[in-house]
Amino acid sequence: MSFVIDQVRGRRVWDSRGRPTVEAEVQLRGGPTGRAIAPAGASRGRHEAIDLRDGGEAFGGFDVTHAVAHVNGEIARALAGLRADDQAGVDAALIALDGTAQKARLGGNATIAVSMAVLHAAAAAAGMPLYAWCAQDAPVRLPLPEIQIFGGGAHAGRRVDIQDFMVMAVGATSFAQALDHTAEVYRAAGALMAESGKAAGVADEGGFWPVFDSNEEALGLLVRAIERAGFVPGDDVAISLDIAASEFGRDGRYTLGLEQRVLDTDAMIDLLVGWCRRYPIASIEDPLAEDDPVGLQRFTAAVGHRVQVIGDDYLVTSADRVRGAARDRAVNAVLVKPNQAGTVTETLAACRAGQAAGFGTIVSARSGETEDTTIVHLATGWDAGQLKVGAFARSERMAKWNEALRVEASLGARAVFAGRGVLPPDAGRPLP
Ligand code: PGA
Ligand code: ZN
Repeated sequence: MSFVIDQVRGRRVWDSRGRPTVEAEVQLRGGPTGRAIAPAGASRGRHEAIDLRDGGEAFGGFDVTHAVAHVNGEIARALAGLRADDQAGVDAALIALDGTAQKARLGGNATIAVSMAVLHAAAAAAGMPLYAWCAQDAPVRLPLPEIQIFGGGAHAGRRVDIQDFMVMAVGATSFAQALDHTAEVYRAAGALMAESGKAAGVADEGGFWPVFDSNEEALGLLVRAIERAGFVPGDDVAISLDIAASEFGRDGRYTLGLEQRVLDTDAMIDLLVGWCRRYPIASIEDPLAEDDPVGLQRFTAAVGHRVQVIGDDYLVTSADRVRGAARDRAVNAVLVKPNQAGTVTETLAACRAGQAAGFGTIVSARSGETEDTTIVHLATGWDAGQLKVGAFARSERMAKWNEALRVEASLGARAVFAGRGVLPPDAGRPLP
C-alpha cells in the first residue's frame, strides 16, 4: 500500500454557525483518501494560530477563499510526493511553507484541515480506524466527556458572563453510560428552565440559552438538574466551568456585565473559590485572563489539589507554553484544540507535554463545528483522558458523541473508559 501523497484539494464548506470554513481532501497514490474540516473559535486566545478570513462584505467578512486557494495551490504542490505516514514530516513542510509564528500567511484553518486530512488518509491506507492509527501500539482509552448544559459568554450574546456550564458524569463506568447520565441531566435542566420561564433556545454549542439574573443562579439550577435526574452532585455527576475570563478581563480587572461589578484579580479568585466551596465543581477552565499568569498561579495554589484548573486561552495548545505553565504551576491541565496549533504534530506535542507534566489533558472542539469527528479519535488514540465538545444537542456535537460510542462498541470487552481517575482526587466534592 502506498502512503505517497498524490493530490490535495481544498473546498469551502459551512460550519454550525452558517459561516464558511475549509475542508481538505488528500488522495494517496493507489487511491486511499482522507478528509477533514477546520473548526472555528469565537473566544480565541491571543497566541493561537490565525484563522484566515477574507474580510470584506461577503458573509460578514468570514469567507475563506484565500485559505482554500492556499490549499489548492502552494500546499498541494508542497505536499505532493511526501509520505502520509510521516505526519511529522508533512507538518514540518506546512510550517516551513507558512513561515510565520502563527500560520498567518497560509491560515491555521488551511493547515489544520490539510494536516488532519493527511492523518485520515494514512489511517485509510493502513486499513486502521483513525484512533488506532493515532495510538500505533500504545493503549487507547475512551475519554471522560465534559458536556455543556448552559452556554453563555461569547456564545450567547453575553447573556451571562461565564461561557460554559458543563457536567462530567464522574460516576459512570463507560463512555456510553456517561452519555446516558448526561442525557438525563440535560433533559432535567431543560424541564427546570421551562418551569421557571427561563427557556429561551440554545446557545452556540447547543447548551440552553441562559436567561439568568446572576452567574450563580446557573450553578444552583445545574445542581437541581443533577438531583432531579436522580444523581448525587459531586459523586455521580460533577460541575465543570469554562470561565473564559479573557473575554471580560484584562490588566487585572474583570467586568461582570450581568452583575454590573468590576473585580480585581483577588476578588475574582475569591468569587471562584467561594463557588468551589458551595458547588460540586470538579474543573474550571480559564479562571483568570490570559494576561494574568500570577492570578492563575494563585488560583491553582488555592484549589488545584481538588479542582482541575485548565489553561485554554493561556496555553493555546502550545507545548512550550504548557512546559512554562508546568514550571510556574499556573494551571494543572491543558485544553488541546488542533486548530489553535494548526497542525496535528504540534497538537500532539502539546498533549504529550501536558501528560509529561502530570497535567489533565482535554481534547476540545470549538464553538464553530461541523460533522468532522477527528477529535474523538485524537482523544482516544492519544489517551488524552478527557473530551470537550459542547452540549448534548445539535448534530455537529452529537456527531462526536456518537462517534465515540461507535469506537467504544468496536473495542468491545477491550474498551477502557477514563472515568473520574483523570481528575484530581476528590474532584467535585466541595472544598472545605
Ligand atoms: P471558542 O471557545 O471555540 O468559541 O473559542 C471554546 C472555549 O473557550 O473553550
Ligand atoms: Zn475555553
